Amino acid sequence: MINQIKQLIKENLEKYYKEKYSLDISVVVEEPKNSTMGDISVPMFSVVKALRKPMPEIVLEAKEVIKGFDLPILEVNPINAFINIFVDKSLLAYQIIEKAILEDNNYGSSNIGEGKNVTLDYSSPNIAKSFSIGHLRSTMIGNSLKLILKKCGYNTFSINYLGDWGTQFGKMIVAYKKWGNYDEIMKDPINNLTALYVRFNQEAENNPSLDDEAREAFRQMELKNKEYLDLWKWIREESLKESKQIYDLLEIDFDSYNGEAFYNDKMDAVVEELENKGLLVEDNGAKIVNLGDDMPPALIKRSDGGSLYITRDLAAVFYRKKEYKFNKILYVVGNEQKLHFEQLKRLITKMGYDFADEVNHVNFGLYLTNGKKASTRKGNVTKLIDVLNTAIKLAYDLIDAKNPDLKNKEEIAKYVGISAIVFGDLKNFRGLDVEFNLEQSVKFEGQTGPYLQYTGVRIASILRDKSFDIKNCDTSLFEKPHYFELAKEVAAFKSTVERAANELAPSVIAKYLLGLAQSFNKFYSLEKINAEDERVRNTNFALAKSVRIVLNEGLRLLGIHYLEEM
Ligand code: ARG
Repeated sequence: MINQIKQLIKENLEKYYKEKYSLDISVVVEEPKNSTMGDISVPMFSVVKALRKPMPEIVLEAKEVIKGFDLPILEVNPINAFINIFVDKSLLAYQIIEKAILEDNNYGSSNIGEGKNVTLDYSSPNIAKSFSIGHLRSTMIGNSLKLILKKCGYNTFSINYLGDWGTQFGKMIVAYKKWGNYDEIMKDPINNLTALYVRFNQEAENNPSLDDEAREAFRQMELKNKEYLDLWKWIREESLKESKQIYDLLEIDFDSYNGEAFYNDKMDAVVEELENKGLLVEDNGAKIVNLGDDMPPALIKRSDGGSLYITRDLAAVFYRKKEYKFNKILYVVGNEQKLHFEQLKRLITKMGYDFADEVNHVNFGLYLTNGKKASTRKGNVTKLIDVLNTAIKLAYDLIDAKNPDLKNKEEIAKYVGISAIVFGDLKNFRGLDVEFNLEQSVKFEGQTGPYLQYTGVRIASILRDKSFDIKNCDTSLFEKPHYFELAKEVAAFKSTVERAANELAPSVIAKYLLGLAQSFNKFYSLEKINAEDERVRNTNFALAKSVRIVLNEGLRLLGIHYLEEM
């Protein structure tokens, strides 16, 4: 927050010189090495050079100007060519808290993204298969990034690029025709369709000709075979319901569900453009584009004419550029697709477009349980919705033990369970693999989502039915380190949100919130917040309230509910 004051001193001085002398002077503002000299120091060399006046005159003038600023400044001391400034820490802390309380949910908002469009592609499950843990990671990271970017003023457009086309549908169609029965399946579509898919993969292990049949079925789909397309539509609808269960639980929605199939009729134009630009090369009957020595070529069309993932993504990126006019597009997809997105960018550049730099692969690592990756193909996999429900059940048991008389226990358990899963993921830098432990993540202590919710609830219960007047504070309390440090952390919220947006990393906010909660809990252990003395009490309440505002808003940016009680 000293940084903010530094910035304001710089801006105000520059404005003063501009207005008085019509000169654009770049004023330097720094922090003195020796803090006994002051909190901020302004070397006046650049001003002397520009104004061509003696140093003492310049320094005196600047001193008076700085004193006149409406900033929490205690002392302004000119020493030689420097003006040393002591910040009024108590006033500063007071101003921070007042601002947080005044702005409430809007506290921490920024305008760094104003006028810029960001398109986000996330979740994107392959819907005839079951929703995988990787897709859950993509869903949570993408959703949080959307909320963070919005808070920074960006216009966002979120797309669930459903994997609703591809050989997995060929497999489903073959499996359905061999072993399926419509009425039976409709009794419990999600589970029965998953069972069919699992059975197909099991039988194909001993009978590889099944895979040939599946490829042929998919080829028929691409040739617009009516029967197969009808089956595809039905399976697509029913499969999507599994994902929707998860989105409903996490309260996540998308601006568009245009998946891979949406681009079926948009690929020919791109292939033609590649052809016209002389980029397409014949390779054993297939069509490829060579991308240079540092990268394998992109396979654009299979020898049997079948379409490909990259061709679809290429068609999609042009469509989206035109339709959503993005300044940036984010693909929240696992590390394993690094090459795919590098190829996509190279293709864009090779085609003569200049927006490859706007294409970002927001990569993430694997989810490990006991050091192993879970697979959805083999059967006997736990379904994700069941994992979420287990977390909710664990949360319920904890709440029931702690606070048996609580109303809405079910609803609160739902939010606590989800918080465990979401925070357990987002606290890790997304690029890394995550070792996840459900029991640990649900706990109310340690580095967990429920711990943050619990800290917020603690503050809510302190403040419940209390009124306080922030104007009637004892600001001298802010000179105590545990007061001042806490206010300083509250003030860091905005720059933290901006950093999370710039680094596309929700973990920046997650880690910050853990630090804030820890500082608050330390404060709580040192001070009786509901103090006897009115002015002390007002100060404590105001500080606690500002922490609660930031905790709530920070949790919201991660996709987690804050609570009044738990
Ligand atoms: N459905 C793909 C998968 O599960 C992810 C799609 C990511 N988005 C994209 N535009 N390629 O692997």
